[in-house]
Amino acid sequence: EAPIRKICCIGAGYVGGPTCSILALKCPDIQVTVVDRNELRINQWNSEKLPIFEPGLEEIVKQCRGKNLFFSTDMVPALKEADLIFISVNTPTKTFGLGKGRAADLKFVESCARLIAEVCDRSKIIVEKSTVPVRSAASIVNVLKANTKPGVSYQVLSNPEFLAEGTAVNDLTNPDRVLIGGEESDEGRKAIDALSWVYHHWVPAEKIIKMNTWSSELSKLAANAFLAQRISSINAISAVCEATGADVSEVAKAIGLDSRLGPKFLQASVGWGGSCFQKDILNLVYISESLNLTSVAAYWQQVIDMNEYQKSRFGQRIVLAMFNTITDKHIAILGFAFKKNTGDTRESPAIYVAKHLLEEGACLHIFDPKVERAQILLDLDQSDEKTGVTIHEDPYEAAKGTHALVICTEWDQFSTYDYQRMYDSMLKPAFVFDGRKILNHSALSEIGFHVETIGKRPGESFQAQNWAGANNV
Ligand code: NAD
Ligand code: UDX
Repeated sequence: EAPIRKICCIGAGYVGGPTCSILALKCPDIQVTVVDRNELRINQWNSEKLPIFEPGLEEIVKQCRGKNLFFSTDMVPALKEADLIFISVNTPTKTFGLGKGRAADLKFVESCARLIAEVCDRSKIIVEKSTVPVRSAASIVNVLKANTKPGVSYQVLSNPEFLAEGTAVNDLTNPDRVLIGGEESDEGRKAIDALSWVYHHWVPAEKIIKMNTWSSELSKLAANAFLAQRISSINAISAVCEATGADVSEVAKAIGLDSRLGPKFLQASVGWGGSCFQKDILNLVYISESLNLTSVAAYWQQVIDMNEYQKSRFGQRIVLAMFNTITDKHIAILGFAFKKNTGDTRESPAIYVAKHLLEEGACLHIFDPKVERAQILLDLDQSDEKTGVTIHEDPYEAAKGTHALVICTEWDQFSTYDYQRMYDSMLKPAFVFDGRKILNHSALSEIGFHVETIGKRPGESFQAQNWAGANNV
């Protein structure tokens, strides 16, 4: 007999939505209901235009919606009938009180646990999918136990999500691994086996890793900390490159060819963004401090500090290159999302760069293929487009009449634009600041642009030739 027939997921966000869509696609024998208290979000999941842009997702939602995939605000019946409940709500950084600015705020997770205990009258498996501090499962167990109805019991599992935005469908379809942490008891093992049975519909058994709950919770924080650390490390090297004449792309290639290091996540950039890295590392720092592991906390804090340094270095470089003043200058920002193939702007380095340029008095012309106009204005604390920010639906319109182009997101289409056409419509000297290292810099220089990028001195090859020439004399 199937151990799980109905699944409910609380939280219809970037994780709950895609995860449950793949789950429904791969498990036609399971009914999946995603619930959220945000009515607008649920309506969007039920509409033609989904609330998030994720390549390949729309087709899957359309295929499964109304069959074994449902989106609803009606939480209580969905929770009552489910055999297994995923908690995929947001766990943002606390903005006030103890641990302000660093600790993860578990109030949404806690309120889910309270609601489950209040309404459910039979035993269930509860799965933490949200990223949480180590030992959060114990807090969920406590809240459940203190409020459970007679005769009902719960098993709480940790099953962190490793999808990255922009590649969520592939990441969920072919995960590197699925972690399931649970209690080391017969009941615990039974619950772990039930959740593995669900994943085994499409994930090979050797990729489903069973472990203790705390290891599973900590692995998620550790994985994000390591990923961000790699980018901060190559970004630190990019500053050395700019100061010495080395080229960070060449250094990254050289490092990445070492099979012990590997080539991924070595792309120097304007800085990393996204909803997870900063929040999860801050959380790790806070946990380490709370455990009196001061050196550990300082070590991971440095990964964030390096990212702040990288973002501010890029902003300053733009001003410096443009004769140390950008007041009343028009600057086009190409790309506002935190990475390509998403419309998400959470912690996007573009926000930081744009705010820096606004503070220096520039007028911004922003274009992003997927970010909504209202979102950009919200991120820049602007109520309308009157105060130095104009949002464009066409990149050539954004570039027209500006002094500079600033690339903040690595959208593929940016490298195929007609930069001669942009150059012709811009003020001179025309600048390009490539914060993602995606453009053909020698071609841009030939057009006449003054080009600056991360991890490479402007006109370095030119200087090197001159120097070689001087030696020959
Ligand atoms: P999100 O903000 O996009 O979605 C969370 C949803 O939960 C929101 O729609 C919100 O309305 C809903 N919600 C909150 N409290 C609720 C409650 N009590 N009842 C009903 N609905 C409630 O967040 P997200 O990006 O999907 O992230 C969710 C979790 O997954 C976080 O812990 C995050 O760290 C983790 N995570 C995110 C990613 C990612 O790429 N975004 C990847 C891996 C893990
Ligand atoms: C991350 C983790 O990768 C994922 O496993 C976890 O579940 C959620 O957090 P995400 O934030 O969606 O995913 O995107 P990711 O691809 O990790 O990129 C994060 C940021 O790093 C982006 O701003 C990206 O542009 C930047 N980045 C990435 C670099 O600057 N250089 C790189 O080499 C890779």
